[in-house]
Amino acid sequence: PADSRLVLLGNPGVGKSALVVRFITKRFIWEYDPTLECTYRHTTMVDDENVSMEILDTAGKGESIHQEGNINWGEGFLLVYSTTDRESFEDIVNLHQHIASVKKTQNFSCVLVGNKNDLTHERKVGQEEAEQLAVDLSCCFFECSACDGGEAVDESFKELHRDVVRR
Ligand code: GTP
Ligand code: MG
Repeated sequence: PADSRLVLLGNPGVGKSALVVRFITKRFIWEYDPTLECTYRHTTMVDDENVSMEILDTAGKGESIHQEGNINWGEGFLLVYSTTDRESFEDIVNLHQHIASVKKTQNFSCVLVGNKNDLTHERKVGQEEAEQLAVDLSCCFFECSACDGGEAVDESFKELHRDVVRR
């Protein structure tokens, strides 16, 4: 079995698939493919240790019954919104509540990820308000771009992994 089971959740089009592909292949995909679900297995170094992760990329339009299975399966959750899409940010709270109700605890591993921060002119969500949300949800926060692929993409997955293993 893998050392952690991570699930990407968030509204359609926020860049979940682009993030996981960036993390695993170091490449960016331009074409928009409203995903069927896909699980990846990835081995990487975290804090000088070789670790394995299973990562489930969900479809933003997934049915909620089906999502419950994914939430039960997952040990850690990347809650992804787009910095260019206010609604996707506002929906994070609901998503968090939904996970809490399925897991029957508020105490689960997650990280908040604001994607597409390369699109500076289309920004609709401020960094400070997202930081505040992360405080409210007691999780880490990363702003990143699957497109330019800085450190923050890697760090969000790795930090989530650390949190799962720690808990
Ligand atoms: P669903 O699978 O439908 O839920 O969407 P998703 O969250 O997987 O989004 P996806 O990764 O398919 O990305 C949607 C679109 O946004 C695609 O055209 C991507 O190329 C684009 N995109 C994703 N991440 C970024 C980013 O960081 N910056 C920019 N500029 N575009 C991005
Ligand atoms: Mg997708």
